Amino acid sequence: MVLHDPVALRAMCDHARSEGRRVGFVPTMGALHDGHLALVREARSRATFVVVSVFVNPTQFGPAEDFSRYPRTLESDCARCAEALVDVVFAPEKDVIYAPGDETRVRVGDTAAALCGAHRPGHFEGVCTVVAKLFALVGPAVAVFGRKDYQQYRVIDRMTRDLAMPIEVVGLRTVREPDGLALSSRNAYLSAGERTRALGLARGLSHAVRAFESGARNAGHLRSLVLAEVTRAATLIDYVTVADPDTVRPIFDADCIGERALVAVAARIGATRLIDNVVLGEDPAPIEVCA
Ligand code: PAJ
Repeated sequence: MVLHDPVALRAMCDHARSEGRRVGFVPTMGALHDGHLALVREARSRATFVVVSVFVNPTQFGPAEDFSRYPRTLESDCARCAEALVDVVFAPEKDVIYAPGDETRVRVGDTAAALCGAHRPGHFEGVCTVVAKLFALVGPAVAVFGRKDYQQYRVIDRMTRDLAMPIEVVGLRTVREPDGLALSSRNAYLSAGERTRALGLARGLSHAVRAFESGARNAGHLRSLVLAEVTRAATLIDYVTVADPDTVRPIFDADCIGERALVAVAARIGATRLIDNVVLGEDPAPIEVCA
């Protein structure tokens, strides 16, 4: 069932709860792909009433970013959700989420400072604000996010704890194409040549995984392996950063990493900004590469 009205959404969720059902939630911006559907499956395994939201959130896009051309495919999104046995798709209009006079925002902290936070001013404030509003409307017991947007997952997890929201936040491993490219709604922007170049992100991360498995622990060395591949592939690099996977605080090149470390990349392939990451010590290499 597709709902646009927040009052009807709340009534459905209240009714489900009154029947003793556990509400699971997957927030999205639509243009759904198999990565999103993996989150839905995870929510279904952890809840008995699943809500998916489809809302291209204006406050998380910068003025020069792709808000207006972001793919909007609500009809096929709803069909995919129906196949995946989603109970409710919530697709609000902008004014429902940002009513005239709206001025309140969630202020994010250190977890949002580095990586994408440093390159997209206001992005995580926009993400947290919309997710907090959606959480308030849906009232989920569990919400599922993708680790493809690793920092986003950590920032939202932090927000739910800091704002005492009684919601379990689950982070699901990145779903990839058979050749290793991380699924993303923005992959639709890539030409065939750019699609091939985009694999440089996953290849670079794979070299870091192999080196880590062979005992490499110097942050600068691991970072340089990723940087070499991404430099070949990218039109522009926003960052290649090694960071603490819990705090998302960057680790200096001169330092050694411990049992786990996040390696995260953001780069433009042509005009398309892509992100990818692995947690060394946790994730497999996205692509088969020689050590
Ligand atoms: P969107 O980019 O549509 O992503 C929705 C969810 O799908 C996010 O949790 C994201 O991490 C996850 N996801 C995307 N690609 C994935 C992949 N390849 N594997 C696993 N999960 C993947 O992220 C947003 O929307 C927005 O910022 C949102 C949280 C909805 C707030 O507006």
